[in-house]
Amino acid sequence: MQLQEYINRRLADGSITTDIGMIISHLADAAIAITQTIRVSGIEEDLGAETGAANADGDEQKALDVMAEEIIITHLKNTATSHILSEEQDAPIATGQDGKVMVAIDPLDGSSNIAVNVTVGTIFSLMPRQDAPVACAGRDQLAAGFFTYGPQTTLILAFASDSAPQCFVLDERNQQFIAMGGAVEIPPETNEYAINAAYSEHWFAPVQEWMGHVLAGHAGAYGKPYRMRWVGSMVADAWRIFQRGGVFLYPGDNRKGYADGRLRLVYEANPISFLVEKAGGMAINGCEDILDIQPQSLHQRTPVILGAKQEITRLKALHLNK
Ligand code: AHG
Ligand code: MN
Ligand code: MN
Repeated sequence: MQLQEYINRRLADGSITTDIGMIISHLADAAIAITQTIRVSGIEEDLGAETGAANADGDEQKALDVMAEEIIITHLKNTATSHILSEEQDAPIATGQDGKVMVAIDPLDGSSNIAVNVTVGTIFSLMPRQDAPVACAGRDQLAAGFFTYGPQTTLILAFASDSAPQCFVLDERNQQFIAMGGAVEIPPETNEYAINAAYSEHWFAPVQEWMGHVLAGHAGAYGKPYRMRWVGSMVADAWRIFQRGGVFLYPGDNRKGYADGRLRLVYEANPISFLVEKAGGMAINGCEDILDIQPQSLHQRTPVILGAKQEITRLKALHLNK
Protein backbone atom coordinates (compact mmCIF):
# COMPACT_ATOMS: atom_id res chain seq x y z
CA MET A 1 0.00 0.00 0.00
CA GLN A 2 1.30 3.46 -0.91
CA LEU A 3 1.65 6.06 1.85
CA GLN A 4 -1.07 8.31 0.40
CA GLU A 5 -3.54 5.39 0.37
CA TYR A 6 -2.56 4.65 4.00
CA ILE A 7 -3.24 8.30 4.90
CA ASN A 8 -6.52 8.34 2.95
CA ARG A 9 -7.75 5.28 4.88
CA ARG A 10 -6.89 6.97 8.19
CA LEU A 11 -8.75 10.10 7.08
CA ALA A 12 -11.74 7.98 6.06
CA ASP A 13 -11.93 6.20 9.43
CA GLY A 14 -11.55 9.51 11.25
CA SER A 15 -8.40 8.49 13.13
CA ILE A 16 -6.48 11.52 11.83
CA THR A 17 -7.48 15.03 10.77
CA THR A 18 -7.05 16.48 7.29
CA ASP A 19 -4.36 18.83 8.62
CA ILE A 20 -2.29 15.94 9.99
CA GLY A 21 -2.71 13.87 6.84
CA MET A 22 -1.59 16.79 4.69
CA ILE A 23 1.46 17.50 6.88
CA ILE A 24 2.62 13.87 6.74
CA SER A 25 2.29 13.68 2.96
CA HIS A 26 4.18 16.97 2.56
CA LEU A 27 6.93 15.74 4.92
CA ALA A 28 7.19 12.61 2.74
CA ASP A 29 7.58 14.80 -0.36
CA ALA A 30 10.30 16.74 1.46
CA ALA A 31 12.09 13.47 2.33
CA ILE A 32 11.99 12.46 -1.35
CA ALA A 33 13.51 15.84 -2.26
CA ILE A 34 16.23 15.38 0.40
CA THR A 35 16.95 11.88 -0.95
CA GLN A 36 17.40 13.34 -4.45
CA THR A 37 19.58 16.12 -3.05
CA ILE A 38 21.84 13.56 -1.37
CA ARG A 39 21.96 11.38 -4.49
CA VAL A 40 22.74 14.26 -6.90
CA SER A 41 24.23 17.28 -5.11
CA GLY A 42 26.52 14.98 -3.20
CA ILE A 43 28.37 14.48 -6.49
CA GLU A 44 29.16 18.15 -7.15
CA GLU A 45 28.92 19.49 -3.60
CA ASP A 46 30.39 18.43 -0.23
CA LEU A 47 27.14 18.09 1.74
CA GLY A 48 29.18 17.49 4.88
CA ALA A 49 31.07 20.77 4.51
CA GLU A 50 30.75 23.09 7.49
CA THR A 51 28.89 26.30 6.72
CA GLY A 52 30.87 28.21 9.33
CA ALA A 53 27.67 28.76 11.32
CA ALA A 54 26.48 26.94 14.42
CA ASN A 55 22.94 26.17 15.57
CA ALA A 56 21.39 27.22 18.87
CA ASP A 57 22.81 24.18 20.62
CA GLY A 58 26.29 24.98 19.37
CA ASP A 59 26.47 22.21 16.74
CA GLU A 60 28.54 23.10 13.66
CA GLN A 61 26.03 23.39 10.79
CA LYS A 62 26.77 21.26 7.71
CA ALA A 63 25.60 22.11 4.20
CA LEU A 64 23.00 19.31 4.24
CA ASP A 65 21.63 20.45 7.65
CA VAL A 66 20.75 23.79 6.04
CA MET A 67 19.55 22.31 2.72
CA ALA A 68 17.34 19.73 4.45
CA GLU A 69 15.78 22.39 6.68
CA GLU A 70 15.06 24.66 3.68
CA ILE A 71 13.38 21.80 1.81
CA ILE A 72 11.21 20.87 4.80
CA ILE A 73 10.18 24.46 5.56
CA THR A 74 9.25 25.02 1.90
CA HIS A 75 7.05 21.91 1.90
CA LEU A 76 5.42 22.68 5.26
CA LYS A 77 4.49 26.23 4.23
CA ASN A 78 1.76 24.68 2.02
CA THR A 79 0.15 22.99 5.03
CA ALA A 80 -1.81 23.93 8.16
CA THR A 81 1.40 24.14 10.21
CA SER A 82 1.30 27.21 12.44
CA HIS A 83 4.89 26.99 13.72
CA ILE A 84 8.04 25.04 12.88
CA LEU A 85 10.37 24.26 15.82
CA SER A 86 13.71 23.36 14.25
CA GLU A 87 17.02 22.16 15.67
CA GLU A 88 18.67 24.68 13.36
CA GLN A 89 16.70 27.75 14.56
CA ASP A 90 17.05 29.61 17.87
CA ALA A 91 13.28 30.10 18.12
CA PRO A 92 10.09 28.71 16.53
CA ILE A 93 9.29 29.92 13.00
CA ALA A 94 5.74 31.32 12.63
CA THR A 95 4.57 30.26 9.16
CA GLY A 96 1.65 32.70 9.04
CA GLN A 97 -0.71 29.75 8.51
CA ASP A 98 -3.73 29.72 10.83
CA GLY A 99 -3.16 26.01 11.52
CA LYS A 100 -3.79 23.95 14.65
CA VAL A 101 -0.55 21.94 14.38
CA MET A 102 3.07 22.76 15.23
CA VAL A 103 5.89 20.65 13.75
CA ALA A 104 9.23 20.09 15.51
CA ILE A 105 12.05 18.86 13.27
CA ASP A 106 15.59 17.63 13.37
CA PRO A 107 16.11 18.29 9.66
CA LEU A 108 19.23 16.18 9.41
CA ASP A 109 20.11 13.78 12.23
CA GLY A 110 23.59 12.30 12.23
CA SER A 111 25.34 15.25 10.57
CA SER A 112 28.78 13.93 11.47
CA ASN A 113 28.05 10.98 9.16
CA ILE A 114 27.14 12.96 6.01
CA ALA A 115 30.73 13.24 4.76
CA VAL A 116 31.41 9.51 5.22
CA ASN A 117 28.31 8.12 3.48
CA VAL A 118 26.74 6.66 6.63
CA THR A 119 22.95 6.65 7.14
CA VAL A 120 21.43 9.96 8.28
CA GLY A 121 17.80 11.00 8.63
CA THR A 122 15.06 13.51 9.45
CA ILE A 123 13.04 13.36 12.69
CA PHE A 124 9.60 15.01 13.07
CA SER A 125 7.03 15.59 15.82
CA LEU A 126 3.49 16.94 15.31
CA MET A 127 2.07 18.78 18.32
CA PRO A 128 -1.11 20.72 19.09
CA ARG A 129 -0.65 24.46 18.48
CA GLN A 130 0.12 26.26 21.74
CA ASP A 131 0.61 29.99 22.22
CA ALA A 132 4.02 31.14 23.34
CA PRO A 133 4.57 28.68 21.25
CA VAL A 134 5.92 26.02 23.59
CA ALA A 135 6.34 22.33 22.83
CA CYS A 136 3.93 19.95 24.59
CA ALA A 137 4.98 16.97 26.71
CA GLY A 138 5.87 14.05 24.45
CA ARG A 139 2.83 12.05 25.53
CA ASP A 140 0.58 14.72 23.94
CA GLN A 141 2.10 14.51 20.45
CA LEU A 142 -0.41 14.14 17.61
CA ALA A 143 2.01 12.08 15.50
CA ALA A 144 5.75 11.40 15.24
CA GLY A 145 8.21 9.63 12.99
CA PHE A 146 11.51 9.75 11.17
CA PHE A 147 13.01 9.14 7.75
CA THR A 148 16.36 7.43 7.18
CA TYR A 149 18.52 8.18 4.14
CA GLY A 150 20.67 5.06 3.79
CA PRO A 151 20.86 2.15 1.33
CA GLN A 152 17.10 2.74 1.25
CA THR A 153 15.06 5.78 2.20
CA THR A 154 12.59 4.65 4.86
CA LEU A 155 9.90 6.10 7.09
CA ILE A 156 8.51 4.95 10.44
CA LEU A 157 5.34 6.74 11.55
CA ALA A 158 2.79 6.61 14.37
CA PHE A 159 -0.35 8.68 14.99
CA ALA A 160 -1.74 9.32 18.49
CA SER A 161 -4.62 6.92 17.78
CA ASP A 162 -2.28 4.09 16.72
CA SER A 163 -1.52 1.00 18.78
CA ALA A 164 1.76 0.47 16.87
CA PRO A 165 4.01 2.32 14.37
CA GLN A 166 4.04 1.47 10.65
CA CYS A 167 7.14 1.38 8.41
CA PHE A 168 7.46 2.41 4.76
CA VAL A 169 10.25 2.20 2.17
CA LEU A 170 10.73 4.56 -0.79
CA ASP A 171 10.41 2.87 -4.17
CA GLU A 172 12.78 5.15 -6.12
CA ARG A 173 11.47 3.78 -9.42
CA ASN A 174 8.20 5.72 -8.94
CA GLN A 175 9.09 7.93 -5.96
CA GLN A 176 6.38 6.36 -3.77
CA PHE A 177 6.64 5.27 -0.12
CA ILE A 178 5.29 1.71 0.20
CA ALA A 179 4.17 0.13 3.50
CA MET A 180 6.55 -2.62 4.67
CA GLY A 181 5.81 -5.25 7.31
CA GLY A 182 3.00 -5.10 9.79
CA ALA A 183 2.61 -3.29 13.11
CA VAL A 184 6.08 -2.68 14.58
CA GLU A 185 6.82 -4.38 17.92
CA ILE A 186 10.07 -4.19 19.96
CA PRO A 187 10.73 -7.61 21.64
CA PRO A 188 10.93 -7.19 25.46
CA GLU A 189 14.31 -8.96 25.69
CA THR A 190 17.50 -8.22 23.78
CA ASN A 191 21.24 -8.82 23.70
CA GLU A 192 22.07 -5.86 21.43
CA TYR A 193 22.86 -2.41 22.79
CA ALA A 194 23.90 0.92 21.29
CA ILE A 195 26.00 3.36 23.30
CA ASN A 196 29.12 5.43 22.61
CA ALA A 197 31.45 3.38 24.82
CA ALA A 198 34.23 5.98 24.40
CA TYR A 199 32.52 8.00 27.14
CA SER A 200 32.41 5.15 29.68
CA GLU A 201 34.80 6.93 32.06
CA HIS A 202 32.26 9.79 32.25
CA TRP A 203 29.05 7.80 32.86
CA PHE A 204 27.25 8.02 36.19
CA ALA A 205 26.96 4.99 38.50
CA PRO A 206 23.68 3.38 37.24
CA VAL A 207 24.92 3.09 33.64
CA GLN A 208 28.36 2.00 34.84
CA GLU A 209 26.74 -0.80 36.90
CA TRP A 210 24.47 -1.89 34.03
CA MET A 211 27.41 -1.99 31.62
CA GLY A 212 29.38 -4.05 34.15
CA HIS A 213 26.69 -6.74 34.13
CA VAL A 214 26.42 -6.58 30.33
CA LEU A 215 30.16 -6.92 29.71
CA ALA A 216 30.37 -9.80 32.21
CA GLY A 217 28.36 -11.90 29.72
CA HIS A 218 27.48 -15.45 30.85
CA ALA A 219 29.18 -14.88 34.24
CA GLY A 220 27.30 -11.62 34.86
CA ALA A 221 24.00 -10.91 36.61
CA TYR A 222 22.16 -10.97 33.25
CA GLY A 223 23.72 -14.34 32.36
CA LYS A 224 24.14 -13.87 28.64
CA PRO A 225 26.57 -12.40 26.07
CA TYR A 226 25.63 -9.11 24.40
CA ARG A 227 26.77 -7.37 21.21
CA MET A 228 27.22 -3.64 20.57
CA ARG A 229 26.33 -1.39 17.64
CA TRP A 230 26.88 2.40 17.48
CA VAL A 231 26.20 4.29 14.21
CA GLY A 232 26.43 7.90 15.41
CA SER A 233 23.04 8.64 13.81
CA MET A 234 20.24 8.15 16.30
CA VAL A 235 17.79 7.47 13.46
CA ALA A 236 19.96 4.59 12.18
CA ASP A 237 20.32 2.99 15.62
CA ALA A 238 16.59 3.52 16.29
CA TRP A 239 15.57 2.08 12.91
CA ARG A 240 17.59 -1.08 13.70
CA ILE A 241 15.82 -1.39 17.07
CA PHE A 242 12.40 -1.14 15.38
CA GLN A 243 13.48 -3.87 12.92
CA ARG A 244 15.23 -6.38 15.25
CA GLY A 245 15.02 -5.06 18.81
CA GLY A 246 17.71 -3.71 21.14
CA VAL A 247 18.37 -0.74 23.41
CA PHE A 248 19.90 2.70 22.73
CA LEU A 249 21.56 4.83 25.39
CA TYR A 250 22.83 8.39 25.26
CA PRO A 251 22.92 8.96 29.04
CA GLY A 252 24.02 12.03 30.92
CA ASP A 253 27.69 12.04 31.89
CA ASN A 254 30.19 14.19 33.80
CA ARG A 255 31.62 15.96 30.75
CA LYS A 256 31.03 19.73 30.90
CA GLY A 257 27.59 20.42 29.41
CA TYR A 258 26.64 16.74 29.20
CA ALA A 259 24.84 16.26 32.54
CA ASP A 260 21.70 15.67 30.43
CA GLY A 261 23.54 13.98 27.58
CA ARG A 262 23.61 15.30 24.03
CA LEU A 263 20.17 14.62 22.59
CA ARG A 264 17.42 17.24 22.52
CA LEU A 265 14.02 16.49 24.07
CA VAL A 266 11.62 18.21 21.67
CA TYR A 267 12.85 17.09 18.23
CA GLU A 268 14.92 13.95 18.94
CA ALA A 269 13.95 12.20 22.18
CA ASN A 270 10.19 12.88 22.17
CA PRO A 271 9.36 11.69 18.65
CA ILE A 272 11.46 8.54 18.93
CA SER A 273 10.22 7.80 22.46
CA PHE A 274 6.62 8.16 21.17
CA LEU A 275 7.35 5.49 18.54
CA VAL A 276 9.15 3.25 21.07
CA GLU A 277 6.21 3.24 23.51
CA LYS A 278 3.77 2.60 20.63
CA ALA A 279 5.96 -0.40 19.73
CA GLY A 280 5.77 -1.83 23.27
CA GLY A 281 9.17 -0.56 24.42
CA MET A 282 10.17 1.92 27.14
CA ALA A 283 11.91 5.30 26.92
CA ILE A 284 13.31 6.91 30.08
CA ASN A 285 15.69 9.67 31.14
CA GLY A 286 16.85 7.41 33.98
CA CYS A 287 14.12 7.67 36.59
CA GLU A 288 11.08 8.78 34.55
CA ASP A 289 9.42 8.32 31.18
CA ILE A 290 10.74 10.81 28.63
CA LEU A 291 7.19 11.38 27.36
CA ASP A 292 6.17 12.78 30.76
CA ILE A 293 8.83 15.52 30.80
CA GLN A 294 7.29 19.01 30.43
CA PRO A 295 9.59 20.90 28.00
CA GLN A 296 10.92 24.18 29.41
CA SER A 297 12.87 25.30 26.34
CA LEU A 298 13.16 24.37 22.67
CA HIS A 299 16.70 23.00 22.74
CA GLN A 300 16.80 21.44 26.19
CA ARG A 301 18.61 18.13 26.37
CA THR A 302 17.59 14.90 28.07
CA PRO A 303 19.36 11.64 28.79
CA VAL A 304 17.90 8.98 26.46
CA ILE A 305 17.66 5.31 27.48
CA LEU A 306 15.16 3.44 25.29
CA GLY A 307 14.15 0.15 23.69
CA ALA A 308 13.49 -3.40 24.96
CA LYS A 309 11.27 -3.34 28.04
CA GLN A 310 13.20 -5.89 30.16
CA GLU A 311 16.54 -4.06 29.74
CA ILE A 312 15.07 -0.58 30.29
CA THR A 313 13.26 -1.85 33.42
CA ARG A 314 16.67 -2.98 34.76
CA LEU A 315 18.20 0.42 34.00
CA LYS A 316 15.30 2.27 35.60
CA ALA A 317 15.66 0.20 38.79
CA LEU A 318 19.41 0.98 38.89
CA HIS A 319 18.65 4.72 38.59
CA LEU A 320 15.88 4.67 41.21
CA ASN A 321 18.05 2.74 43.68
CA LYS A 322 20.91 5.27 43.47
P1 AHG B 1 22.61 15.70 15.06
O1 AHG B 1 23.46 15.33 13.89
O2 AHG B 1 21.21 16.07 14.70
O3 AHG B 1 23.30 16.71 15.94
O4 AHG B 1 22.42 14.38 15.96
C1 AHG B 1 23.51 13.58 16.21
C2 AHG B 1 23.26 12.85 17.49
C3 AHG B 1 22.58 11.50 17.27
O5 AHG B 1 22.07 11.32 16.00
C4 AHG B 1 23.69 10.51 17.54
O6 AHG B 1 23.21 9.35 18.17
C5 AHG B 1 24.61 11.29 18.44
O7 AHG B 1 24.51 12.64 18.06
C6 AHG B 1 26.03 10.85 18.29
O8 AHG B 1 26.73 11.53 19.30
P2 AHG B 1 28.30 11.22 19.51
O9 AHG B 1 28.98 11.78 18.30
O10 AHG B 1 28.65 11.94 20.79
O11 AHG B 1 28.44 9.72 19.61
MN1 MN C 1 19.96 14.83 15.74
MN1 MN D 1 20.43 17.51 13.29
